Amino acid sequence: MRGLHKLRPGHRAVPAGSARQHPRHSPPDEAQLLDTQRAFDSVAADYDGPRGNNELIQRMRLILWDTVHSVVPPGARLLDLGCGTGIDALEFARRGFHVVATDWSPLMVERTRARAAAAAMQSRVTVAHLGIQQLARLDDEFDGIYSNFGPLNCVPDLGAVATECARLLRPGGSLVFSVMGRICPWELGHYALRGRFKRAGVRAARGATAVGMNRHTIWTCYYLPREFYRAFSGQFSLQGYRALGLFLPPPYLVDYYRRRRRWCERLGRLDDRLGALPLLRDMGDHFLIVLRRR
Ligand SMILES: C[S@@+](CC[C@H](N)C(=O)[O-])C[C@H]1O[C@@H](n2cnc3c(N)ncnc32)[C@H](O)[C@@H]1O
Repeated sequence: MRGLHKLRPGHRAVPAGSARQHPRHSPPDEAQLLDTQRAFDSVAADYDGPRGNNELIQRMRLILWDTVHSVVPPGARLLDLGCGTGIDALEFARRGFHVVATDWSPLMVERTRARAAAAAMQSRVTVAHLGIQQLARLDDEFDGIYSNFGPLNCVPDLGAVATECARLLRPGGSLVFSVMGRICPWELGHYALRGRFKRAGVRAARGATAVGMNRHTIWTCYYLPREFYRAFSGQFSLQGYRALGLFLPPPYLVDYYRRRRRWCERLGRLDDRLGALPLLRDMGDHFLIVLRRR
């Protein structure tokens, strides 16, 4: 039978921990996963505001929505990894898909549940508190799996995620992920011009690096598209990838965008036209990658 009631037993609870220095090249450990969970819990209440859903984010969201819609059949069954407050899950429910929406932050999960209830969409959206690192607990079958705005940057073992996605996806099914990239020219320039060179270089770190949010720490691994794909290449073929937010500033610079809206609209058109070109597609705040199960 399909559904989260078939969660597998035996998941180990993670011990409490706090933000600290992390050895180079290491993925996030269990304590750091909890730091990240607390960070997102702390912003769940207002995440639909400027922090989590401003105009620049909405622009990128549309691209993921249309990409997912174009690669799965009508009425498909979708899995959302790191659903946040459920904006994407509800959009796909409105488009006639069935979504299992999961997140590692219990307060984000509550927001998604409330959003589904307010829209009377509980028949199309199932919500579960589940970290991506816990996917082995899920027994189900999906036509497509998506993850928007970097949840996959917070997991310890991408290879294990690939194995679980391959198990959960029907043959020929698609993965659509938006992932934070390593080379974000806007971010480099923004922080370097302010003399914050350490912050400017944060995406160059190997393994998990501490990124502050709301006085908490998100342990984040940044990837080049090819580094990311390497973990999935055994079970998935690469359908394509493109930059998101290359000419446009990253979402946290939305004030810049608001002050220069007409100029930024032009930059947005450059993103649309050029973001999938070789070399350019390897840069940007995020990249959108589409993979197909062999
Ligand atoms: C930047 S938010 C994006 C949320 C949502 N996908 C959206 O588009 O608004 C990142 C989300 O990933 C979740 N997350 C972080 N680490 C995770 C993990 N290990 N497993 C599942 N979700 C995780 C956070 O709780 C948060 O909701």
